[in-house]
Amino acid sequence: MKILGCGSAFYVGQMGAAMIEELARVPADAEPASEFRYRNPIVEPDTLYVAVSQSGETADTAFAVQEVKRKGGQIVGLVNVVGSTIARECDGGIYLHAGPEVAVASTKALTHMGVGFAMLALCLARVRDLSIADGQRIIAALRKVPAQIEEILADEEHIAEVARGLAGAESLFFIGRVRGFPVAREGAQKFKEISYRHAEAYQTSELKHGPLALICETLPTVAILPNDELSDRNLGAMQQIVARRGPLVAVTHPGVDFGDLDVPRIVVPKSERELDPILLTVPLQLMAYHAALALGHDIDKPRNLAKSVTVE
Ligand code: AGP
Repeated sequence: MKILGCGSAFYVGQMGAAMIEELARVPADAEPASEFRYRNPIVEPDTLYVAVSQSGETADTAFAVQEVKRKGGQIVGLVNVVGSTIARECDGGIYLHAGPEVAVASTKALTHMGVGFAMLALCLARVRDLSIADGQRIIAALRKVPAQIEEILADEEHIAEVARGLAGAESLFFIGRVRGFPVAREGAQKFKEISYRHAEAYQTSELKHGPLALICETLPTVAILPNDELSDRNLGAMQQIVARRGPLVAVTHPGVDFGDLDVPRIVVPKSERELDPILLTVPLQLMAYHAALALGHDIDKPRNLAKSVTVE
């Protein structure tokens, strides 16, 4: 499966690709729709293409849909706006029903995209190899998402305090790995969109291959640290940051053993591991919001950006 979207929709596409691979064991990846048609892509008849878009009017994504169709591929949409161009041009698809989204920085539509991908992954998985019990495990976790988001929102004042501490930095890193990496990318995207701070995402595992050289007292890192099979490795990388006096914030789950690592934490309710990215993204949106608020920026209409990018 190949998922095509732009900006944050691309990052959620990466989260979706991971869910589809983990649950359905179908090879899946995501690619920026804005690059797709320019590399003369090979469109395979047995690959399902998925276009993901909040507005349904993003020109780059619409052109990618046309490229797939021109070359005889099948494409479905994961789109919010009913009857939009991309929704109409796709062969079929899923409407997100997130309701109208006004602010330029996409938030609730992204959460709905994450849930949409989880449901798509589940449908594909159940006709392949996923057991009834595992399917029920995912459904039960999806049912808990709204209440868990409420829990995150209840922690808003703490998240705001952390955000105010980050707002003064000229540059920030967001790090995560495997399922956590698209979360880090989306965190950096939201932060730069509305705070106008330079924010860059790396795989935690890549730090030592170069970016570690930049770590110092003035470059904070936001580390995505799920309670999963990679926690210990992630903590090792975080120790490296602290040893170089880099300010660090962890976005994590209950039950992670930090040992002697004493860093500010934003604790997010745990879901099933495949769905964790959906919830881990929410505090990062709040973090960007409160940093932008502290800096006095127009949060709904950030400079230089349009809600719907209808030109190439
Ligand atoms: C999200 O916060 C951004 N404003 C932007 O990256 C957006 O996701 C992208 O332009 C795609 O928009 P779409 O979902 O409407 O296609």
